[in-house]
Amino acid sequence: MRTQVAIVGGGPAGLMLGRLLELRGIENVILEARDREYVQQRVRAGVLEQATMDLMDEVGLGERMHREGLVHEGVELRFNGEGHRIPLTELTGRAITIYGQQEVVKDLIDARAEGLHFNVSDVRVDPEAGVVRYVHEDAEHVLEADLIAGCDGFHGVCRPAVADVLTVYEREYPFGWMGILAHAAPTSEELIYAHHERGFALASLRSPEVSRLYLQCEPDEEPWSDEAIWTELDTRFGMSVNRGEIFDKGVTPMRSFVVEPMQHGRLYLAGDAAHIVPPTGAKGLNTAMADVALLANSIGDEAKLAAYSQTALQRVWRVQHFSWWMTSMLHRFPGDDDFQQRVQLSQLAYTVSSTAQATALAENYVGLRFTL
Ligand code: FAD
Ligand code: DHB
Repeated sequence: MRTQVAIVGGGPAGLMLGRLLELRGIENVILEARDREYVQQRVRAGVLEQATMDLMDEVGLGERMHREGLVHEGVELRFNGEGHRIPLTELTGRAITIYGQQEVVKDLIDARAEGLHFNVSDVRVDPEAGVVRYVHEDAEHVLEADLIAGCDGFHGVCRPAVADVLTVYEREYPFGWMGILAHAAPTSEELIYAHHERGFALASLRSPEVSRLYLQCEPDEEPWSDEAIWTELDTRFGMSVNRGEIFDKGVTPMRSFVVEPMQHGRLYLAGDAAHIVPPTGAKGLNTAMADVALLANSIGDEAKLAAYSQTALQRVWRVQHFSWWMTSMLHRFPGDDDFQQRVQLSQLAYTVSSTAQATALAENYVGLRFTL
């Protein structure tokens, strides 16, 4: 079998790349290891940057996002028991939208008529030859392509296939996030990022009836009992949060990770396959979208394609810094002393009181424009 672009991974990056290429008349095949149900139910990010929203519109799939998504024009930083609003839109002219990652994934899958294969296994990529071998429905397949897009996430097979030529930049954080979804009206209309001496907490939402809440925890912690989670949330926010039935619970470890370069031979890495951020800046999904928007625009333009990695990495490192900065400012690190706490609180106080610093946060939070 032959195609122009073989896309490994049907997460947000792979599916959006497939859609963009389809609209440009570039033939492509998407290979996804999991089944459709699993991919559509996987609970992850929820904040779409303005540029991600614009991209959904550009590919003709913004209708449900505009109908069901919740546009936010501000975000709250909470510390010393008090909330401080950063007026994102007033400062930048741009906004974010709350719309679950799995909703984006559903919209992209629904729009795909053919050339998306779920449940593939034993995927092997040859970056030099541009060949992908895989097993589907008990048969071995060979897919030849002009180029391969490695959109198979952090645990995929594409990055390891070029490990020899990659430099890895990495930082692991000594904590994770325990995330819950609950049938409870959000306590706050806008997101709250809370600094507390017992650790970070985040109040987000999915709809007027569903809250999404996170607590800093040990990286390998088993999810706590419902009661323990609600009590700790009340403590860290310094107010009683609305409670309801918890219907999803999970712990995510946190790391910063980048490989350079993001291309080798005929293989181009995009999204989590090439880089990971801690979730404090809500950048993971959005950065994956920025990569594939650039890649789609580079395919067919030799000079642009040759510069893909170099161009993408400029934005990737900006996002790395922002995510690291937000994480450092808001979390409690093991061994932190009073000096460290005071420095964090001073940084927070400066961020909410200086228009320059608030604008710097806002500009990065709503997201820098995609490079195309
Ligand atoms: P992925 O979404 O990982 O998609 C990769 C796809 O490739 C998957 O569908 C996978 O099944 C498939 N695949 C893997 N191996 C193979 C293979 N060998 N062959 C074929 N297919 C393969 N970001 C935030 O901003 N906020 C959050 O709260 C947040 N929470 C997260 C929680 C978790 C548990 C994780 C893992 C990530 C979270 N992220 C969050 C990050 C965000 O979800 C990712 O950045 C985003 O999913 C990246 O999209 P992607 O398409 O690059 O990778
Ligand atoms: C959500 C996740 C994030 O990582 C974040 O910074 C804000 C919101 C969310 O899942 O809603």
